[in-house]
Amino acid sequence: MILPKKGVDKSDISKTLTEFQADDLDWRSGKVFGYVFDPGEEAMEVGKQAYMQFLSENALDFTSFPSLFKFEKEVVEMAVNHLNGGEEAVGNFTSGGTESILLAVKAARDHARVHKPGIKEPEMILPITGHAAFHKAARYFNIKVVPITVDDTFRADVAALKSAITKNTILVVGSAPSYAHGVIDPIAEMAAIAKENDLLFHTDGCVGGFMLPFYKKLGEPVPDFDFSVPGVTSISMDLHKFAYTPKGASLVLYRNSDIRKHQIFACSQWTGYTIINNAVMSSRTGGPMAAAYAVLNFLGEDGYMNIARQKIAATKILLEGVRKHKDLKIMAEPDFCMFSFTSETISIFHLIDEMNSIGWYIQPALTFEHSRHNVHLSINFSNVEWVDAFIEDLYKSIENIRDVTYGEIGAALKKEFENKDPDSLTDKDIQDLLAMAGTSGDDFPDAMADISEMLDVLPPKLRERLMVEYTNGIF
Ligand SMILES: Cc1ncc(COP(=O)(O)O)c(C=O)c1O
Repeated sequence: MILPKKGVDKSDISKTLTEFQADDLDWRSGKVFGYVFDPGEEAMEVGKQAYMQFLSENALDFTSFPSLFKFEKEVVEMAVNHLNGGEEAVGNFTSGGTESILLAVKAARDHARVHKPGIKEPEMILPITGHAAFHKAARYFNIKVVPITVDDTFRADVAALKSAITKNTILVVGSAPSYAHGVIDPIAEMAAIAKENDLLFHTDGCVGGFMLPFYKKLGEPVPDFDFSVPGVTSISMDLHKFAYTPKGASLVLYRNSDIRKHQIFACSQWTGYTIINNAVMSSRTGGPMAAAYAVLNFLGEDGYMNIARQKIAATKILLEGVRKHKDLKIMAEPDFCMFSFTSETISIFHLIDEMNSIGWYIQPALTFEHSRHNVHLSINFSNVEWVDAFIEDLYKSIENIRDVTYGEIGAALKKEFENKDPDSLTDKDIQDLLAMAGTSGDDFPDAMADISEMLDVLPPKLRERLMVEYTNGIF
């Protein structure tokens, strides 16, 4: 492909774009559990219009675009009030949960550099259920992750936290809730331990932070997770998930500006314009900020309470349907509209392929520590009317795959690779493994069960290496 010499007609471009979309997940069907957060047509339209109106404005310099400054300030204020931040709490708008987490971790590292200069090899304590974005932050910012285990309900183990603290610890993390199992860590206990030990504590509220206060108002038993908990010093909360604003919208909030200060980047050591960045990016569209402002105001508390009410009911129906089936097992009773289930009698990965082949989208998760491979469901507003149909198709799909043979690839690979150091494998070994998984060629595989089964038995580090090599190869 090369840049066309002569510009292409705009109707042809539009046709091509639509053709490209043909194989995308059909999220408008309401049968996709994940990825797209659809608040309904009207709110979606409000968001789109605001986004397009500010598409070209640049948040690089908030003094040149005071409109964007206002959006950010007002949205942060709403969030601070929503999460009991009080007078001193502050925050910023970011492009997503990962960026919010990167910034909170970077702020913790630089806060420690000033307040605990003796720490040369900073450590972050992270439950094994904590989001991968914390690992990314650790790798980017040279911080050691100290993983701690979780109990049978997949909530962080408080005793493990206590013993993981060292003189190098700078940050403790808890999730509200964790993505995989939808359960909230014991934030109050964890934050109290952090406070006693003069450590910063981050609540990852990327998925739950915005909705959980509405769940609580509706009488759901939601444990405290926000700034009302002594010791919580920062929170990440996405808007582009369960606040249903268009993508590119999250917030990172701090108990006070003394901590937040360490997030901000300024640079005057070059020949160009002076740089001050609240976030990781410099130039960025004003679209997501405008859209977030618009959708939050459009839906208001009543709109979100309505969404929360319907999602709570839908989640209960799905849980009941899964619980009743003899072949399925819910991994943990969730605190939010997301949960996972597994099976010891049928192939979970084939079940996922079967469901996805008839128009659903459900997600596999691989085995990690004592979290067995599973199906993850994030229940969305758009899924609400489909829950009965989902359970019906799930039961049918189980019968369709009941007799499928599985486990052989896994068993063979496990034997071969279980004790091998991934770094000792040659590029050829890796290419052979990728070929074995059927990942060669330009098309993405339709059926994923064999690939998932294979990855499931490999050590996590080897999985990572395979995924890097695969991605490196296809782009
Ligand atoms: C708990 C949690 N934290 C962080 C993230 C990362 O968010 P993003 O994909 O917006 O970067 C996610 C994404 O699902 C999440 O579930």
